[in-house]
Amino acid sequence: MPIHLGAAWYPEHWPESRWAEDLQLMREVGLTVVRLGEFAWADLEPEEGRFNLDWLERAVALAAAHGLACVLGTPTAAPPAWLTQRYPDVLAVNPDGRPAVHGTRCHYDVTSERYLAFCRRIAEKLAERFGQNPHVIGWQIDNEYNTVSYSEGARSAFQAWLREQYGSLDALNAAWTTAYWSQRYTDWSQIPLPLTGAHGFNQPHSPALRLKWRQFVTEAYRRYQRNQVEVIRAHARPDQWITHNFMGFFDGYDHYTLCEDLDFASWDQYFPEGALDFERDAAGHDLTRGFKRRSFWLMETQPGTINWAAVNRAQERGETFAVAWTAIAHGADAVCYWQWRNALNGQEQYHGSLVAPDGKPRPIFAEIKRLGESLRQVGNLLDGAPVRAEVALLHSYEDRWALDFQRHHAQFDPLAYLRSLYAPLAQRNIAVDILSTRASLQGYRLVIAAPHLIDEAIAQSLHDHVASGGGLVLGVRSGMKTRDNALWTQRQPALLQDLAGVHVEEYFALDKPIPVHLAEIVSGSLLHGMGTATIWAEWLIPAQGTQVLAHYGASNGWLDNQAALTLRVHPSGGWVLTLGGWFDPTLQSALIGWAAERANVSPVMPIPLSVAHVMQRGDAYIVIAGRSGARISLPWRAYDHLSRAHVASLELPAWGVAVLTPRSD
Ligand code: GAL
Repeated sequence: MPIHLGAAWYPEHWPESRWAEDLQLMREVGLTVVRLGEFAWADLEPEEGRFNLDWLERAVALAAAHGLACVLGTPTAAPPAWLTQRYPDVLAVNPDGRPAVHGTRCHYDVTSERYLAFCRRIAEKLAERFGQNPHVIGWQIDNEYNTVSYSEGARSAFQAWLREQYGSLDALNAAWTTAYWSQRYTDWSQIPLPLTGAHGFNQPHSPALRLKWRQFVTEAYRRYQRNQVEVIRAHARPDQWITHNFMGFFDGYDHYTLCEDLDFASWDQYFPEGALDFERDAAGHDLTRGFKRRSFWLMETQPGTINWAAVNRAQERGETFAVAWTAIAHGADAVCYWQWRNALNGQEQYHGSLVAPDGKPRPIFAEIKRLGESLRQVGNLLDGAPVRAEVALLHSYEDRWALDFQRHHAQFDPLAYLRSLYAPLAQRNIAVDILSTRASLQGYRLVIAAPHLIDEAIAQSLHDHVASGGGLVLGVRSGMKTRDNALWTQRQPALLQDLAGVHVEEYFALDKPIPVHLAEIVSGSLLHGMGTATIWAEWLIPAQGTQVLAHYGASNGWLDNQAALTLRVHPSGGWVLTLGGWFDPTLQSALIGWAAERANVSPVMPIPLSVAHVMQRGDAYIVIAGRSGARISLPWRAYDHLSRAHVASLELPAWGVAVLTPRSD
């Protein structure tokens, strides 16, 4: 199967007599798939229990007649007015106790049993009708799960879930240290829903309660999704897949858990700042590929512009093409635009689309047509072709939540920290998998991790990796807490002390950068000179046999001359580089680059990102130029499937792309 090109199509917005004109243009632009139905509940079940799926079946048939496959979205992100009016208990309640108001979307209470029953029924009706339809290739459940409800129902469900988790109140009270501020619970029904300072009276709730609530929200969404997945699977052909369109690094729930019930993950990539930045934007692809450790769909992206940023800047001419190829290079099996055509009314009138309200192509249409042509040129080359990486960067929602609850330094944004570890790899065109801290690390030469919450399983997996000769870069705030968000009694990194050959004597939030002196010249003098630590610094105490590679310079007296960077080499040949500080970008980049070399990790092509972005999928090398274009002399002779030429060098215009396979002659 070649890479799909698609768009979100809303036939319910238009008279049926006009569907064919849309479909003809879709064919002309080169679309191979449309996604439809995901907000159409009011048209699919106009009254409680009265279903009207015929129009959707006609839309699918007409799309098929124009050569387009269909992905059906279940419409549960947008319950109809009759439902929310008759059963207001299905509405989400905000932290101040106010129920949502009809007229927007995602305003349901994910824990409402009544809502789940309605969702199951509409999903089942759709599955009964379309589960065997040859033109429906897959399903999307709901749309961008995101709402949390603080209803009474959510509260009892949370209490019941905690009871299952802990078994007894004694166990919960001990794990949460509820003796603190007299929080001790003597009945499950006393446990509140957590509020932050903004919604509480003046103080946020306890970190344990807040972490468990996020885990519960994850379970609630898992149940919500499974409720629909089950009825669809019961009626669907085995080759119809099920996915959900996630939102990149959004952290409202644990995506790894939700993905367990899906065939593959999808995501919606938008650019609030308008511009493509390889170093920042490719990370979302690497994250989504890591959810199921396989290729994914870009279910939505903008055809040039969005309508919800402060300034809805249009992508430059050519940039939309490069955005799509970046997604494909990182493992997307489909690129779908939101949306095909603007609805005449509704909240998104200004959003980018391929076709304007007059039914005629917008300027971006030609660029997307060029994308369609390029996909046809590449044909089956990328079919099933995996992205392979030698580096794993570990990521955990629980860590992000726990850090966000207590940043200790307002600028300690856990996502920014993760990006500071990702950027040095991106800058070198080194492929990286962003994976769960619970993923198998087998086969990776280098692992980069900063597991804030740590348990035996995570510690074991990192030990095994180093014992098999792998390299590990350990970031700041590692090994601080348990999975109840309680402090470990050991100093950081707790269960990793022996592995890292170091412990943290004290940690410091930094109000200004402090100097860091690299104490040793290591391996080809990659590390020499000095830099700074910003935001965060840990005073490292090396165990015997651990090398100190850098010290802090004069700063607050406590940190002066203390170890800032250590290396522990194990008899297996495996090693751990412990970063004591959040270093400035130049130093952080030099260190990660040094670690990659030490681990024998190769870049996809030996050119830096400042020249062009390069990724490998299967046998193909995808080279993408930024806004200044790129001149590259290739390390080998190649065939470019887009220019259909044999090449030894490339001269790419702004946002130009080449898809190369090396030639043996
Ligand atoms: C997405 C959403 C789409 C559309 C789009 C606009 O978050 O899934 O339905 O609203 O944003 O950018």
